[in-house]
Amino acid sequence: MTSMTAPPSTPMSSKLIRNLTPDQLPTVHMPACEARPALKGQKALVTGASSGIGRGIAIALCAAGADVMINFVGDEASARAVVDEATHCGCTNRGRAVAHRADVSDETQVAGMYGRMRDEFGTIDILVNNAGLQQDAPVEEMTLAQWNKVISVNLTGQFLCAREAVREFKRRGVQKDVSCAAGKIICVSSVHEVIPWAGHVNYAASKGGVFQLMKSIAQEVAPWRIRVNSICPGAIRTPINMPAWATPAAYAELMKLIPYKRIGEVEDIARLAVWLASDEADYITGTSLFVDGGMTLYPGFEAGG
Ligand code: BGC
Repeated sequence: MTSMTAPPSTPMSSKLIRNLTPDQLPTVHMPACEARPALKGQKALVTGASSGIGRGIAIALCAAGADVMINFVGDEASARAVVDEATHCGCTNRGRAVAHRADVSDETQVAGMYGRMRDEFGTIDILVNNAGLQQDAPVEEMTLAQWNKVISVNLTGQFLCAREAVREFKRRGVQKDVSCAAGKIICVSSVHEVIPWAGHVNYAASKGGVFQLMKSIAQEVAPWRIRVNSICPGAIRTPINMPAWATPAAYAELMKLIPYKRIGEVEDIARLAVWLASDEADYITGTSLFVDGGMTLYPGFEAGG
């Protein structure tokens, strides 16, 4: 039988992190990690790579030795700048990079992009399914066009690109001098594959869909030595969520959701993408890896529940 305990005289919340000011917490130091040629000789496609997380991943893969196709849909100048940055990163083992325009939600354009991949690089070893967008609205105001746009880029786009990659991985098989696996697919998902997100039902539904898309493909293709995993970023400093970090007031609000008390940087995601694509992660498939400074620890429960 349970009994009621008297409330403590000091409220528990007064001892908790949420009442501390930044000067009472350790200074933020960012990791300094050197690029290693873990992906030498591999061919990668990164979708939505002209900005944000995709850009960071493309540059990191190239610095790790991979040849990288930088997919973009709108901003060609930015894509060319990423090509430039990726191929002038100063690492002796860096790969080659090319830019390619394609809308990942268009079947014909995706087929064309894989054709170019074959022409430029001969094959594909790593797909980073990153292209994604937000079109936010309260549910009662969300248009069908907003719903369809987000689902077709964020979810259908990942399916179309994964399907082409699997076809090529199976056709070519394992080349043991290149990698232990016949191919690797990394889906860029979100903490919102598990955290519901009011005002963003199209986005949250697309990422919930990516969760099962990733796992079901992983289950289906594992015997062919194809690994499929997701990276689930929390709040990363990119244009997509600028309103959440661009002012000190917004940043302070954001920190209430992040136990580790700093915003994520694209390098936090890019380092994981390189490792996950490498043979160091060879026994990992069908997994969502959260890179979120603890956002999925539900810090709102620190003093509640
Ligand atoms: C969204 C960002 C958001 C983050 C955490 C990401 O998937 O794209 O806008 O800041 O999740 O909520």
